[in-house]
Amino acid sequence: MLTPNLRDLLSERFVLVDHELASAVVNGLSRPQKTLPCRFFYDARGSELFEEITRLPEYYPTRTEAAILEAHAADMAASIPDGGVLVEFGSGSSRKTETLLRHLPQLRAYIMIDVSESALLDAKERLATRFPSLDVRAIVADFSYPVALPVDLADGHRTGFFPGSTIGNLNPVEAQRLLRVFRGVLSPGSRLIVGVDLKKDLSILLPAYNDAAGVTAAFNLNLLARINREVAPAFDLDAFRHEAVYNARDGRIEMHLVSLADQDVTIGDQRFQFRKSETIHTENSYKYSVRQFQDLARAADWLPSRVWTDKDALFSVHELVCT
Ligand code: TRP
Repeated sequence: MLTPNLRDLLSERFVLVDHELASAVVNGLSRPQKTLPCRFFYDARGSELFEEITRLPEYYPTRTEAAILEAHAADMAASIPDGGVLVEFGSGSSRKTETLLRHLPQLRAYIMIDVSESALLDAKERLATRFPSLDVRAIVADFSYPVALPVDLADGHRTGFFPGSTIGNLNPVEAQRLLRVFRGVLSPGSRLIVGVDLKKDLSILLPAYNDAAGVTAAFNLNLLARINREVAPAFDLDAFRHEAVYNARDGRIEMHLVSLADQDVTIGDQRFQFRKSETIHTENSYKYSVRQFQDLARAADWLPSRVWTDKDALFSVHELVCT
């Protein structure tokens, strides 16, 4: 006799439920201000859509940061001594890193840390052809927690690299905590090069998160599509719309999904009620002035050193020294 569980497992209706995603969704939707955790944006479809966002005419951060890195890579590389080690947190495709690596013949090793093993393998293969003599190490890990670096590289001078203004997706308290985690991984005397999006006029800021082609909207809504695919067919995608607003008090762009009607959403045995215009808060993107970010770094025991920006002051790349 088959037990009910086994029968489910063998039936055609069986789908694999991601329990971490499912419980995070239920928790988030149970709060007074409904939320969904942003780390679930990046499934295969979400990653594809985000790649598309980075190429949008309205989305200035990626190309502006790339131009700053191009223009100042030699300067940035100059403070990395012979035999130094470059450690990238959340390396993804490692594309931005190539700009730095071209100026770093003295590097002993490049260590990439990412949660995606496939991204690491792809990057490792590409870098092996472009930089045949570079020692590339891959660590599959979540950079929000302390990671042990390979023992044979323990004595080298370390430079951390954290581009993309990913730090802006954390609130200032979490950002400080992360900078302290990096401090622990990198040790005193080392440096961190970190990309930070700047405060700016809303005429530039808002379109970057509300593009005309609707790619950002599709990216945000993919979170619901993913829940429908992986947890339960819960959401009517036509009953929600994307919204990005600037919260001036907290200095952040907020991404929301707005319910277009009074509606119930059912996940398993849980029912969530939505009023018309009620939102699910899906992501924040904090914007800093140069001074504000330097103050935050100091509060996390990093010493601000050089900072590079573009001529329109859209984006900043900070060099911090570990005290
Ligand atoms: N790190 C990116 C940013 O804050 C992430 C991002 C861009 C994003 N567009 C988005 C996140 C839309 C959610 C929705 O700019």
